Amino acid sequence: MTAPLGRRGARITARERYGAYVVLRCADADGPTPAAGQFYMLSCAAGWGGGEGERPFLPRAFSVLRACPASAPLELEFLVEDVGPGTRRLSELLPGEELLLTGPFGAGFRPPHRGRRPLLVGGGVGLAPLAIWQDQLGPDTTALLGFRDAMHAPGAELMSAPRVATEDGSAGHRGLVTELLAAELEADPQAEVYACGPPAMLEAIRALCAELELPAQLALESGMACGFGACFGCVVPTREGYVRLCLEGPVLDAHLLETAAVAGAGH
Ligand SMILES: Cc1cc2nc3c(=O)[nH]c(=O)nc-3n(C[C@H](O)[C@H](O)[C@H](O)COP(=O)(O)OP(=O)(O)OC[C@H]3O[C@@H](n4cnc5c(N)ncnc54)[C@H](O)[C@@H]3O)c2cc1C
Ligand code: FES
Repeated sequence: MTAPLGRRGARITARERYGAYVVLRCADADGPTPAAGQFYMLSCAAGWGGGEGERPFLPRAFSVLRACPASAPLELEFLVEDVGPGTRRLSELLPGEELLLTGPFGAGFRPPHRGRRPLLVGGGVGLAPLAIWQDQLGPDTTALLGFRDAMHAPGAELMSAPRVATEDGSAGHRGLVTELLAAELEADPQAEVYACGPPAMLEAIRALCAELELPAQLALESGMACGFGACFGCVVPTREGYVRLCLEGPVLDAHLLETAAVAGAGH
């Protein structure tokens, strides 16, 4: 989907907390329906670029968590984890206040190759692009989600019947989501993996899929200043040269990458 020119306002219609995460729902009257894996640049009017510390200045990148095209106007949902000044201000927005957004930007997920079963693997806020993808693929699509601890595990409620791993063992399998993935791939070598999460997780998935010669599509992150190809702040190296993650990505074929642990990505 191509983004309309310019920044537009989208009224917050709901705000819900899921442990460490906040889900913001907004009405995007003038925007097109986004594809799964696309993202928006978000900011808000008050407390942005002024006040104590004066950060943040630039808008921040967020995957679309969910889109409800049946509603009029179109409703979008975003998943926010407070990790700094921009995400804090966004996570404090209340119904009735206005989100400022541009987008949707970037290239999202592509359908699985013929005969392949989609398998979704997310870590932390990385579940966001996978939730909208599962909405489109169907609720029976297998999802494996990894979280740090009990504070983050409620994020699992945002997807249909996910299998969960937590590092502290507070929910589901104690350990890493990549351990669940390895077991799943052993049982079904016809999978096509879709993943989003921290760089170390994505790199483990890239390496595993390369070893098993399985296709994988990885939604990567990097620092993004503009979101639409102008600043070159988001470039990452691939086997075919540098790409702007906001244009050619954020979803890249795993086989294009020497490593998914790209500089500047991940918290
Ligand atoms: C395509 C894309 C989709 C994203 N989707 C989501 C989402 O759905 N939900 C969500 O909560 N976050 C998402 N992020 C990450 C989000 O953009 C950053 O957390 C945010 O920019 C941090 O801004 P801040 O002002 O709160 O903190 P800052 O002070 O700017 O950063 C806080 C910490 O986060 C790290 N960081 C900053 N920017 C990024 C980034 N782009 N990627 C990874 N780490 C970063 C910094 O190194 C620092 O350690 C996404 C990023 C990209 C590029
Ligand atoms: S974020 Fe500016 S070019 Fe990609």
